[in-house]
Amino acid sequence: MSYNPGEYWKERGKVYKQNFKYDKNFKLQEEILTDYLKKYSFSTVLEVGCGFGRVTRLLLSAFPQIKEYFAFDLSPHQIENAKLNIQNVNTRKEKIEFMVSDIQSFQSDKKYDLVIASEVFMHVLPSEINEVIQKLINYSNEHVCNIDWYEEKPPKKAESFNFIHQYEKIYRDIPLVKKVNRIPIVKKGLLSKVDTKQSIFHAILNR
Ligand SMILES: C[S@@+](CC[C@H](N)C(=O)[O-])C[C@H]1O[C@@H](n2cnc3c(N)ncnc32)[C@H](O)[C@@H]1O
Repeated sequence: MSYNPGEYWKERGKVYKQNFKYDKNFKLQEEILTDYLKKYSFSTVLEVGCGFGRVTRLLLSAFPQIKEYFAFDLSPHQIENAKLNIQNVNTRKEKIEFMVSDIQSFQSDKKYDLVIASEVFMHVLPSEINEVIQKLINYSNEHVCNIDWYEEKPPKKAESFNFIHQYEKIYRDIPLVKKVNRIPIVKKGLLSKVDTKQSIFHAILNR
């Protein structure tokens, strides 16, 4: 069956939260993301494809300086769960807003200090990814971060809804981008190694 992102994620959104299993990969992803973002200053956030609010809750908890947080997802079920998920986060509620929308039809009059998308771009069709990233750059004052599957040598086979995009190149080809960082989400211990096969991609803009 061919992959239709809108239909697929609306359907999967109905059971996404109940099927979600938090594991050591998510733990490491969250640790590396929060440690990394602590180097930068931002007070307004736009989160794309927020799902049930896992990263929403993480960032609101870890960065009390956030004054405004706007999160959207194309799945109404995910958005309902995201609202519940942040209910008892120790933060002022009026600064958090959720919306049901896909990236392609999303419009904003505002720009945000940080635009973040966790595990969303990897589900965007190759034919649409450049346009999607360009659009989100336009909504950012300074930082755009995405966390996604990335391997230099991608496996021959992947699920129909997963793609490895060349994020560094896509960002670098945008004139407003002055720097791009890639932070692999990997932890090597003496006896163990966690390799999520994901990276954080961070584009810093020249505004
Ligand atoms: C793998 S989940 C990740 C959820 C969340 N960001 C996280 O890291 O826990 C992907 C999410 O992206 C959303 N999504 C996929 N394509 C989208 C699009 N084009 N516009 C908005 N949301 C999208 C899906 O509905 C789903 O909630």
